[in-house]
Amino acid sequence: MGEDYLKKIAHATARHEKPYLPSQDTKLLRRSVKEYTGGSALEIGFGSGSVMEELSKNFELVVGTELIPLREQFSSLGGPWHRIIADRATCFRSSIFDLVVFNPPYLPSDSIEDITVDGGGGGVEVPLLFLDEASRVITRDGKVLMVISDAGEIARIETRCGAMGLQFRIIAEEDLFYESLYVYEIKWKEEGP
Ligand SMILES: C[S@@+](CC[C@H](N)C(=O)[O-])C[C@H]1O[C@@H](n2cnc3c(N)ncnc32)[C@H](O)[C@@H]1O
Repeated sequence: MGEDYLKKIAHATARHEKPYLPSQDTKLLRRSVKEYTGGSALEIGFGSGSVMEELSKNFELVVGTELIPLREQFSSLGGPWHRIIADRATCFRSSIFDLVVFNPPYLPSDSIEDITVDGGGGGVEVPLLFLDEASRVITRDGKVLMVISDAGEIARIETRCGAMGLQFRIIAEEDLFYESLYVYEIKWKEEGP
């Protein structure tokens, strides 16, 4: 998908009318972020805002990005966090966040019709684009938390981490009747990027 990513999903973004409703992946990520503290945190694709709300308990600065500018996503939440309409983390300079989290769209799909759930080829094309940006904006000691489903080709995530010089471990897991969800904690290897 690469450089044409935003062009390819422009039609889907423009006609999207409903925010993502908090689901099992939201709850799993929300539980997982409780274990982390620090100065600055970013959620990519804040959707319902539920995860940002949890982050704001343990981080001084909480920022979220989202592609779809739906009013209910801005008006339904108060709180000391910042919501920005932007593609992933492209509006930020490198190496500034202690933690970046996301439960990306991860359903395997030939094209992106619903930007809240369609993950592209193998269910990992969009998650990998999220990971590219997340790893760019974490500090040298920063961490990424990513929710992914075994409905997609998880092995491609692990291969990409290895190729980029990132290490990973699974910190949480939930078995649903149709899929298993995993939370990956990802960070730079000791020698850095
Ligand atoms: C599975 S939903 C999760 C939403 C939210 N974290 C939650 O659990 O309520 C994925 C979210 O990512 C957003 N999204 C998709 N592509 C994006 C991009 N390139 N940049 C920012 N957000 C994006 C979608 O609009 C959607 O709200």
